[in-house]
Amino acid sequence: MTEWIGLSRATEGVPGSAPPPEALRTPAPTEGPLVDTYGRIGDDLRISVTDRCNFRCTYCMPAEGLPWLPKSEILTFEELTRVVRVFLGLGVRSLKLTGGEPTVRAELPKLVRMLRDLDPDVDISMTTNGFLLDRLAGPLAEAGLDRATVSLDSLLRHRFQEMTRRDALDKVIDGLRAAEAAGLTPIKLNCVVIAGTNEDEVVDFARLARENAYEVRFIEYMPLDAEQRWERAKVVPSAEIIEAIDRVYPLIAEHEGGVEPASTYCFADGAPGAIGVIASVTEPFCETCNRLRITADGQLRACLFAMYETDLRTPLREGASDADLQELIRRNVWAKWEGHKINHPDFERPTRSMSMIGG
Ligand code: GTP
Ligand code: 5AD
Ligand code: SF4
Repeated sequence: MTEWIGLSRATEGVPGSAPPPEALRTPAPTEGPLVDTYGRIGDDLRISVTDRCNFRCTYCMPAEGLPWLPKSEILTFEELTRVVRVFLGLGVRSLKLTGGEPTVRAELPKLVRMLRDLDPDVDISMTTNGFLLDRLAGPLAEAGLDRATVSLDSLLRHRFQEMTRRDALDKVIDGLRAAEAAGLTPIKLNCVVIAGTNEDEVVDFARLARENAYEVRFIEYMPLDAEQRWERAKVVPSAEIIEAIDRVYPLIAEHEGGVEPASTYCFADGAPGAIGVIASVTEPFCETCNRLRITADGQLRACLFAMYETDLRTPLREGASDADLQELIRRNVWAKWEGHKINHPDFERPTRSMSMIGG
């Protein structure tokens, strides 16, 4: 088993300061849930099924795209299903399909069916840009997908095009309708708010939430864009967003913290829908994080900003047993760091940008 490397620096070859995880000095537990040295339990697995995308959001990818992973490096559906089975055996209770853009992976409904067949009760959801939902929502729901979260950053056609580099607002709205019709509910919307770009639309988004019973979540812009254009001045603090909406539609705080990254609010007048804020920069929620991530090329990351990854693909392809995989996974989770250091002077960006991790 030790012929497989347990944990390697994701930024190999790149100068950096992150020391090897202290936790590796003590052995990971061999039974019970997936726990780290801070007592957090990892029971939410985010699975990136492809690094490719049919959009080019400015806060994520360059206009020309990124060098895509060759097909041979991407986990097959069989490999993914095997890994997920091992994670379910370790206590994982929810699966989130991500990308790149998950719907560009060929035959995605087939994968959903394979995952659903592993467990009738596990929560399976997907975060998508919505472009292909008009034709895929039905087949995905039939295959066993529970719900969808759609990224939508502007309700104005020209601005949507500016932010995603695609003139596709209408098609995404059609996708949203198709998701609702297929029962992929409750529908959540993800809106990345960028100062000077779309923060004037937050009240319009709140109205959309009320009119359609959506949960609209505003995400603070994070330093995970491939072009490295992120700057602190472009982050709109979630507290300001809540204040702006509250002035027009009074809000009541529903849930703060917990294991979910979003703090949610409902409308004081009882209107349907909800508002959520994901304050990754101004109010980091690492302390309660329950998330684990597998990249499309089969690397396990215990944090969005992880500096270390565990290669699961090589052992999978070299005949590792379930027990071998379990040990590798337990070790990676055990070594999870306390949290990202966005607000710290020695913050270091991970070398993988958002579309290579899956959000
Ligand atoms: P559901 O509520 O079950 O749909 O899950 P979710 O809140 O994780 O949904 P989604 O995948 O849409 O996540 C929303 C966004 O929150 C992600 O795309 C990230 O931008 C951000 N996010 C999710 N998990 C983390 C995390 O562990 N750390 C940080 N900093 N941001 C996260
Ligand atoms: N900062 C915050 N959120 C981002 N997303 C992509 N890039 C960033 C970033 N730099 C969001 C997308 C999508 C989810 C997967 O992550 O809008 O909703
Ligand atoms: Fe594609 Fe999502 Fe990145 Fe936009 S944020 S370019 S939709 S992966």
